[in-house]
Amino acid sequence: MCGIVGYIGDKSAQEVIIGGLRKLEYRGYDSAGIAVLNEQGLQMDKAQGRLAVLEDRLESQPLGGFMGIGHTRWATHGKPSDENSHPHLDEKGDFAVVHNGIIENFMPIKEELLKKGYTFTSETDTEVIAHLLADMYDGDIVSTARKAVQRMRGAYALGIMTKHEPDKLVAIRLASPLVVGIGERESFIGSDIPAILEHTRDVYILNEGEMAVLSRDGVELFDVETGKKVERDVFHVEWDLVQAEKGGYDSFMLKEIYEQPQAVRDTMGARIDQEKKRIVLPELKMSDTELAAYDRIYIVACGTSMHAGLVGKDVIEKWTRVPVEVAVASEFRYRDPIYTDNTLMIVISQSGETADTLAALREAKKSNVKVLAITNVVGSSVAREADEVLFTWAGPEVAVASTKAYTSQVVTLYLFALYLAEVKGTLPADEIANVVEHLQAIPGKIASMLEESEASRMRDFAASIKEVGSVFFIGRSLDYAVSLEGSLKLKEISYIHSEAYPAGELKHGTLALIEDNVPVIALATQPDIFEKMVSNIVEVKARGGRILGFATEGDTELAKAVDEVIYMPSTLPMLTPILTVIPLQLLAYYASVARGLDVDKPRNLAKSVTVE
Ligand code: F6R
Repeated sequence: MCGIVGYIGDKSAQEVIIGGLRKLEYRGYDSAGIAVLNEQGLQMDKAQGRLAVLEDRLESQPLGGFMGIGHTRWATHGKPSDENSHPHLDEKGDFAVVHNGIIENFMPIKEELLKKGYTFTSETDTEVIAHLLADMYDGDIVSTARKAVQRMRGAYALGIMTKHEPDKLVAIRLASPLVVGIGERESFIGSDIPAILEHTRDVYILNEGEMAVLSRDGVELFDVETGKKVERDVFHVEWDLVQAEKGGYDSFMLKEIYEQPQAVRDTMGARIDQEKKRIVLPELKMSDTELAAYDRIYIVACGTSMHAGLVGKDVIEKWTRVPVEVAVASEFRYRDPIYTDNTLMIVISQSGETADTLAALREAKKSNVKVLAITNVVGSSVAREADEVLFTWAGPEVAVASTKAYTSQVVTLYLFALYLAEVKGTLPADEIANVVEHLQAIPGKIASMLEESEASRMRDFAASIKEVGSVFFIGRSLDYAVSLEGSLKLKEISYIHSEAYPAGELKHGTLALIEDNVPVIALATQPDIFEKMVSNIVEVKARGGRILGFATEGDTELAKAVDEVIYMPSTLPMLTPILTVIPLQLLAYYASVARGLDVDKPRNLAKSVTVE
C-alpha cells in the first residue's frame, strides 16, 4: 500500500503535493518523494523515513513547480531506502513515475532494458516503468504510456509526467485506487479523495483499466486497452474533510473495524512464500540458529496488545513447545523476572510509545535479554530501541479503542510462531502449509462477518443491553483470551461494566452474580473443550442468565443451550480468535452508539499512554 498525488495548475505543485501526501501517510511511511517541473526543468527530491524528513529538506531547498507527482511508500520490492523511494526517473531524468502496486513481470522487462544498456539505480519494480517510457517514447506521452502499461502485468496506480510535455499529467489505474480531481484551471491525482479534497470536491473515480490525461484545462478519460475516450459523470463529494478521512463511516472505530480484512492481508503481505506455503521473515536480523536456541519467551504489553499476547502464548506453546509467559508491562518491570541465557522478550505495542511497555523493554535490555518488538508504528520508540522488529502494517489507527491493530498483532504472532516452529523443527512442513492456507483465507472470512446481516445482529443485541448493569464474557483457552478483549472493548467505549472469566472458573465465585436476564456472552469455538464449555453454559442458564453463544459453522449443539447463537466461519481452532473478536468489536461499537457516546474518544482514555 503506497499513496500517490499529482498536480498541474497555477499553485505551487510542491505545496499541493506535500499537503496531499500528509493525508496519505497512513498508506505507508517508509519514504516520501516528489518530482516537479519548474523553471529549471524536471527536479526531484526523495528521502527514506517519514514525510517530515522530506518536508525538512524542501524547506531549505524548495522545488515549487507548476506540475508534479508525489509518493509515500510502503516497501514491497526493495527495502526502505533513499534509492528505492519514489518517484523514479529514467537515466536522462526526462520521465518521472510514481506507483502504487506491484508490477508482477518487472523482471523480464528489466532484463530486456539492461540488455539495451539501461542502468538501474534501485531495486524496485517501478523503475522499469521510467526506463520503459524513455525507451518507447514516440513524442506523445499519452500513447507511449498506454503502450508501456500494456506490457505490464500486475496491480497498479500510476502518476506519470515528462519534461517534453509540460502541459500533460497522466494517471493510470489497474486494481489500485485512484481518483482525479477537477479544479479551476488546475487538476489533481490522489490515491483517495481526502488527499485532494482541500482543493476540489469534483472528482472522477477511475475504473480499472482507465487512464486520465490531466491539464490546466481539464481532464480526459480513456480506456487503456482500446484508447477510446470514456465519458463519466463528475462525482461531487458532499462530505467534509473529517468525514472523508473517515471514508464515509460515522467514526474512525467503525472504519478501522471494516479495514480489518485489508489490514490482516497487509500484515501477511510478503511474509508468505506463496509457492512453498511457509513463512519468511526477512526483517529479522538474528540467524535461524540463534532464534532456534530460545527456550523461554516473555510477552510483555498493555491492554489490547496484552490480549493479543495471550493468543500468542497459546499458539507459540502449541506449535513450538517453548514456554511463554504473558505479563502486563506495568507489573512486569517491577517483578525481578527470571531470565535464562536463552530468553526472548516480545513486546507488543500498537503505538510503540506506551511508557510501561517501553520501560519493560529497557529493563530487559539492561539484563542483556534480546527484545523483539511487534508494533504498528515505524520510527516509534519501541521500534527504535528493540533489537528486532516485526511491523504489523495495519495502517494508522485513530480510534482510541484498538481493533485492526489487535487482529494484525494476532496475525503477526501466528506468523512468528510458524516461523519459529519451522526453525525449531517442531511442526512438519505440511502442517505449516495447512495453517498458512487457512490464514490466507482469514481476510475473506472477516469480510463475511462484517456483512450487514451479521452486523445487524450485533446492533440488535447491543440495543438490548444498553441499560444493563453488567455483562459477562466467558470462554475457555483461546476463547477466554478473546473474551478478555471483548470485555475490554465493551467497557472502554460503552462504559457498561463487564468482566471476562474462564468459563470453568465461574462456579468458584462469580456465578453468584448471575441472576435473571444478566447478559452472558459465551464463546464456544474450541472443539477439544466444547462439551465442558457447554456444561458451564448450562450452569449459567440454570441461574437465569441470558446467553449469546458463539459457535463454529455446522455446530448444532450450542443452540440447544443458549438463547441466541452467532456462527463463525469454520477455520482451524487455533485461528478462531481473529474471527470471534470481530462481532465483539461490533457489539462494543453499537453499544456505545446506542448509549449516545463518543465512540472514538472514550472518557478518561488516550490513544497513546506515555505516562507510567
Ligand atoms: C484498548 C486499547 C489499549 C491499548 C494499550 C496499549 O482498546 O487500545 O488497551 O492496547 O493502551 O497500547 P499500545 O498497543 O499502543 O502499547
